[in-house]
Amino acid sequence: MKTLIVYDSVYGNTEKIANSIGDTIGGDTRVVRTGDVNISELESIDLLIVGSPTYGGSPTPLVQDFLSGISESSLKDTSIAAFDTRLSAKFFKIFGNAAKKIDKSLKSKGGISIMPPEGFLVKGTKGSLVEGEEERAAVWARDIISSKM
Ligand SMILES: Cc1cc2nc3c(=O)[nH]c(=O)nc-3n(C[C@H](O)[C@H](O)[C@H](O)COP(=O)(O)O)c2cc1C
Repeated sequence: MKTLIVYDSVYGNTEKIANSIGDTIGGDTRVVRTGDVNISELESIDLLIVGSPTYGGSPTPLVQDFLSGISESSLKDTSIAAFDTRLSAKFFKIFGNAAKKIDKSLKSKGGISIMPPEGFLVKGTKGSLVEGEEERAAVWARDIISSKM
């Protein structure tokens, strides 16, 4: 299973989650920052996972740019999953959900959502991650593998 994990991260927390997911999926998996993705890579993958810090209830501008650069229908037959990092359920209720917006955008390009969008918690704007969140990301990744088998 050829997998691409694309993420943005300002303070390193989303990067840690992306790496935990990538290490768990293993095999032919590339974990890459939004700015380092060549959009043509999307043509040859089986699974695309996109993660972002939550900014005002949305993905960061870099992730939004990446999403809008994906052409219509180019994710047809590609499995997709989305995650974000966020402060707390309270903030999420007020401002919304970045992972859900990523999921919706990827589905609009033809992607097949194989896992509900997930959020991982940070302790403050600059982090660190709440204890156990990297492990929870690994569990989320194992569920993705199971759903692909
Ligand atoms: C400008 C700004 C806006 C933010 N907006 C939200 C928000 O709407 N909801 C939330 O839960 N966290 C919000 N946060 C906290 C970020 O989600 C947190 O900084 C991020 O998860 C850290 O990820 P990183 O370490 O990968 O950069 C915001 C942080 C910044 C700097």
